[in-house]
Amino acid sequence: MSKLSVHIETFGCQMNVSDSERVAAKLLDSGFELTDAADSADVILLNTCSIREKAEQKVFQRVGQIKHQRAERQPLVGVMGCVAQLEGEAIFNSSTTVQLVAGTGATERIPSLLERVRGGETRVLDLGEREEWAGFEIPTALRHSRHVAFVPIIEGCNKFCTYCIVPYSRGRERSRQAFEIVEEVQKLWAAGFQEIQLIGQNVNSYRPKSEKGLEGFSGATPFSRLLRAVASEGIPRIKFTTSFPRDFHADIVEAMEEHENLCNWVHLPVQSGNNRVLRAMRRGHKVEDYLEKVETIKNSRRAISLTSDVIVGFPGESKEEFEDTLRLTEKSEFHGLYIFKYSKRRGTPAAKLDDDVSPDEKARRFLALESLQMSIQSKIYMEYVGRKVEVLAEGFSARSQSDLTGHTTCQKVVNFRADKEVIGKVVKVHVTEAKAHSLFGQLV
Ligand code: SAH
Ligand code: SF4
Ligand code: F3S
Repeated sequence: MSKLSVHIETFGCQMNVSDSERVAAKLLDSGFELTDAADSADVILLNTCSIREKAEQKVFQRVGQIKHQRAERQPLVGVMGCVAQLEGEAIFNSSTTVQLVAGTGATERIPSLLERVRGGETRVLDLGEREEWAGFEIPTALRHSRHVAFVPIIEGCNKFCTYCIVPYSRGRERSRQAFEIVEEVQKLWAAGFQEIQLIGQNVNSYRPKSEKGLEGFSGATPFSRLLRAVASEGIPRIKFTTSFPRDFHADIVEAMEEHENLCNWVHLPVQSGNNRVLRAMRRGHKVEDYLEKVETIKNSRRAISLTSDVIVGFPGESKEEFEDTLRLTEKSEFHGLYIFKYSKRRGTPAAKLDDDVSPDEKARRFLALESLQMSIQSKIYMEYVGRKVEVLAEGFSARSQSDLTGHTTCQKVVNFRADKEVIGKVVKVHVTEAKAHSLFGQLV
C-alpha cells in the first residue's frame, strides 16, 4: 500500500502545539508522510481547543469547509485534542465526514488508530489515557520552531476554576519525571536549540512521583528545583508558562536570581481584581495575595516582566467589581495582558450561573480594560527605546523579508534589520522604536 499523507492543523495552546509535534513524529516513525498541503492530503487531523465557544466553533467550521472543498475525493478527517476528549462519540453524529476521534491522551496511538480507519473501520474512537512521554524523540524538523522548543513538564489540572473546561479535557495533573525532562533539555541544547519553554497548564504545580533528577538541588518546591536542574544544563534561555498564582512562591524568583538563563518573564493570570468574583471563580487567591506576588516579582533584581490574563463579564460581575479589575491592572503594571470575554462552557460549575453580563457590556469592559492596558504598556515599551536588548533571531518578520523577528528574554517581540545569517543566534539589538505590541531596532 502506498504511504498516506497527513496534514495536521493545530488550534489552542502550546500543549496542543507540542502534542501535534509528537503526533507528527509518531506518524513519520510509522510510515506515514507529512504534508503542508491540506488540499491534497489523504488525512487531515484537527488538533482542537475548547477553551471558549469560539475556539470550539472553529473546528466545526473547518470540518464543514473540508467537506465542501473537495467533493470528488474526500480526505479522511480525524479530530483530536480537547474538543475530541469532551465531545467523544457525539462528533460522529454531528458530522459524517469525521472518521476518527482521538482524545487528549491518544496522541501516541494516532498511527495505529489511522490504520484501523484505513482497514475499513468507521468511527474509530479513543478517549484513553496517555502512555509515557518518553521512548521516542521529536526530530528537529518536526518542531514548531528550530530555535525555541516546547518541553511539557505537567499536564492536566486539579484546580477546577468554575469557568474552565481544562480539568475535563485534560484530566488530573500528571508531572513528568524530572530526569526525563533534564535529558530532553540536554538533547535539545545539543541539537542547537537556544531556548526551551517548559510548558503546562500550571507549571509551578509540578510534583513528580519521584525525586529522581532533583537530588542535590535546593529550593522549597519541586518546580523551583526543576528550574535549577534544567538551568544547570547551560542552555542559554529557559522560559516557563503558565504559572498558577496560588502556587507561585518566592523560591521561583530566587531560582531566577541565581541562574541568568532562567529568563526574566513570568506569566501569572489573575482573572479578576475583585475578591467576590475571584471566589466565585474558585481561583484560590485573593487580590491581596496576588499583589503580594506582584511585589515579590517587581522587587527582584532581575527586572522581571510580568504578564497576565483577565476574564471580563464573569456571571454576576457588576460594574463596580469590574472597576476593581481596572485598579488591579493599574497597580500591577503588566507588560502584556490577554483579555477574554467570559464564555460559558457546558459542564463547568459556572455554566449553572446566569450569563447575565450582556455581550455589549462584555465588549465595553473589554475595550475599557484594553485601553487602560495599552496606556500602561506603551509607557513600559517606550522605556526600551534607546536601550540594547538581547534577541533570539527566530526568522523573517511577517511584514518584510528584509527584517528579522525574535523575542527578548522578557518575551517581547522585536523586529530588526539584520542579515539572515544571524537567524538562530542570540544577538544584541538597539531599540529605536516602540509599537503597541512590539519593539523595532537595529542590530548592534
Ligand atoms: N492554567 C492557566 C490558564 C489556562 S487557560 C491559569 O489558571 O492561569 C488560558 C486562559 O483562558 C485563562 O487564563 C483564562 O483567562 C481564559 N479562559 C479560560 N476559560 C475561559 C472561559 N470559560 N471564558 C473566557 N476565558 C476563559
Ligand atoms: Fe483552568 Fe483554572 Fe486549571 Fe487554569 S487553573 S487550567 S483556569 S481550571
Ligand atoms: Fe484549549 Fe485544551 Fe489548551 S481547551 S487552551 S487546547 S488545554
